[in-house]
Amino acid sequence: MPTQRRVNVKPTDSNGIEKKIKRGNAQRQASFWKRPLGYLLVLITLGACFVLGWLYVSWDNEITETLVRQGEVVQKPRLFKVECSEDYDSYKRYPGCTPQICGRAVTDAVVTHEEAHVLRRLAERGLSLAGSDGGASILDLHSGALSMGKQFVNIYRYFGEQIKEVFSEEDFQLYRVVRARIQAVIAETFGLDPSRMYLTKPTFFSRMNSTEAKTTHDEYWHPHIDKVTYGSFDYTSLLYLSDYGRDFGGGRFIFMDADGNRTVEPRAGRVSFFSSGSENLHRVEKVWWGTRFAITVSFTCDPDHAIADPTLP
Ligand SMILES: *[C@@H]1O[C@H](CO)[C@@H](O)[C@H](O)[C@H]1NC(C)=O
Ligand SMILES: *[C@@H]1O[C@H](CO)[C@@H](O)[C@H](O)[C@H]1NC(C)=O
Repeated sequence: MPTQRRVNVKPTDSNGIEKKIKRGNAQRQASFWKRPLGYLLVLITLGACFVLGWLYVSWDNEITETLVRQGEVVQKPRLFKVECSEDYDSYKRYPGCTPQICGRAVTDAVVTHEEAHVLRRLAERGLSLAGSDGGASILDLHSGALSMGKQFVNIYRYFGEQIKEVFSEEDFQLYRVVRARIQAVIAETFGLDPSRMYLTKPTFFSRMNSTEAKTTHDEYWHPHIDKVTYGSFDYTSLLYLSDYGRDFGGGRFIFMDADGNRTVEPRAGRVSFFSSGSENLHRVEKVWWGTRFAITVSFTCDPDHAIADPTLP
């Protein structure tokens, strides 16, 4: 009866092996804890976890609150009110336009994904003509300024008639339509008279990536106040043409309030707009990877600073 014997023998054998394994494990564990190296390894591992955890938490602590995430779709403009800064007392007042309500707002319902895509292609074509040596390039359709190396050129002068092979009349028409819709939503959200707001300069496409800055023009991440930087701005808007987390990492827009940093995550077709005074100190986080495209469209209350919509020459 060889089969039966084998059946009888097997369990005793495997029991014996299990016991040996257990004993071996127990011995190894005991000797591990007896060795000072064992403690040292554990201490080093714990220490490394602690430092990494601390770095992670302190890094993320710079963002107090995410106002709008990339994955959300905001239909009705979401307004986050902030008290208007005192600087408005020293500016000339324009009824129907000068901010009475200040703050920042976001909407995804003004520009469609398709329109954002067309505008992004336009930005890609225009910016491919040149571009900054550093990680931030701009193309201003109104003045024609385009980053090139460490400076700017005028695309209309530099490329002459050739520019018509890059941009079409429809591209400019789309810009105008989108500009008008943004103007209307700003007026509605802040309770303004849209006919008393005017497009102002600069109005530009931007392309940012992780390449190191070569001149101060490339350093887009410094905190600033648009009214101070640009003078004529009363309302700033940004139309995002690419997606945070999908097309690029970093590059979030950060409002730097005294009590915390609040961020808006870019989403293609998303319009973010705000009153340009010192209540809206802000910066753009450095882009870590990928390429971020956006358009800045700004409005003034002062008719002397009004500009016409960009047109093909
Ligand atoms: C960033 O853009 C510049 C052009 O402005 C390009 O030369 C560079 O290779 C890009 N860097 C990365 C990391 O994609
Ligand atoms: C906001 O972020 C900056 C760095 O960008 C940091 O120095 C500052 O402490 C942060 N503010 C708050 C209130 O967390």
